[in-house]
Amino acid sequence: MKKILITGKDGQVGWELQRTLATHGTIIALDRHSLDLAHPANIRHAINDIKPDLIINTAAYTAVDKAETDREMALAINGKAPEILAEEAKKQGAILIHFSTDYIFDGTSTQPYSETDLPAPLNAYGHTKLLGEQAIQSIGGSYLILRTSWIYGARGKNFLLTMQRLAKERDALKIVGDQIGTPTWSRMLAEATAHIATKALQKNTDSHLWGLYHLTSSGQTSWYAFAKAILESCQRRNPAFRMPKLDQITTAEYPLPAKRPHFSVLSNAKILKTFGVQMPPWQAALELCMDEQQQYAKSLP
Ligand SMILES: NC(=O)c1ccc[n+]([C@@H]2O[C@H](COP(=O)([O-])OP(=O)(O)OC[C@H]3O[C@@H](n4cnc5c(N)ncnc54)[C@H](OP(=O)(O)O)[C@@H]3O)[C@@H](O)[C@H]2O)c1
Repeated sequence: MKKILITGKDGQVGWELQRTLATHGTIIALDRHSLDLAHPANIRHAINDIKPDLIINTAAYTAVDKAETDREMALAINGKAPEILAEEAKKQGAILIHFSTDYIFDGTSTQPYSETDLPAPLNAYGHTKLLGEQAIQSIGGSYLILRTSWIYGARGKNFLLTMQRLAKERDALKIVGDQIGTPTWSRMLAEATAHIATKALQKNTDSHLWGLYHLTSSGQTSWYAFAKAILESCQRRNPAFRMPKLDQITTAEYPLPAKRPHFSVLSNAKILKTFGVQMPPWQAALELCMDEQQQYAKSLP
């Protein structure tokens, strides 16, 4: 049995990966208390102790606005920890799968970004995530960096759950309509990652696999249109659902500490070609996620 170490056990992606990878090896899933990535010595110690065949790093400093004023911590977790993970993985001959973000782009493109497009992050979060990517690339070894975007799911902190909560609390919502990206369901991301991980474990010596990939749902939308799709789906499923009035606003009308790219759609062409992973349209994934939420709610006593 292969040993698979997953960091960020209780995060959106870490949670799902423990389930999708359960039949692929022995899972050792760690949270911040059992492995604090802010301390390089802890990382080295944990990897030497566990001796995993595969490390999947889902842990990250993901508070995008807070990172603007807490740069040192964001840098330690998003920039430095991946470097240590990559060094230790290389020493042990383990594979490292690491997640990165669409926020490493500045959003000036009008076409989906490919892996060869030049990153130019607009905010501290994106900057620290890019440093993490670069550190892994310069160490080399058997690594896959998976850039993804706009993650949501039935648990965790995310836009889907925020919209559902706000719809209960407010009569009207103002949502930004001039940022375009691709919502990605945590479950589907985990399933695609499990498929990729299995192939990587089978072909550990096949160096042409290693590198940087984009992996999101397909299609594109704005936060406003995503909110509308979520709330319309709630309305179809529940006749008692009270639809709030939805207003589209601009980024300038909703100032936040961290700048966001206006366009951060990623092309999945490389991951399709290399691993045969075909990600579904974001609308289809959203419906599946909401089906599950609904079934779960119905099953409660
Ligand atoms: N969320 C998005 O929309 C999005 C978009 C693009 C890319 N990504 C990337 O995708 C990956 C997974 O994101 P996600 O949405 O699953 O993140 P998430 O739900 O915010 O989970 C991140 C996890 O990292 C853990 N963590 C934070 N600081 C840590 C530390 N010092 N030591 C150990 N663990 C620590 C958190 O633990 P606590 O719960 O204890 O804080 C949490 O469990 C990340 O690399 C992220 O940058 C996310």
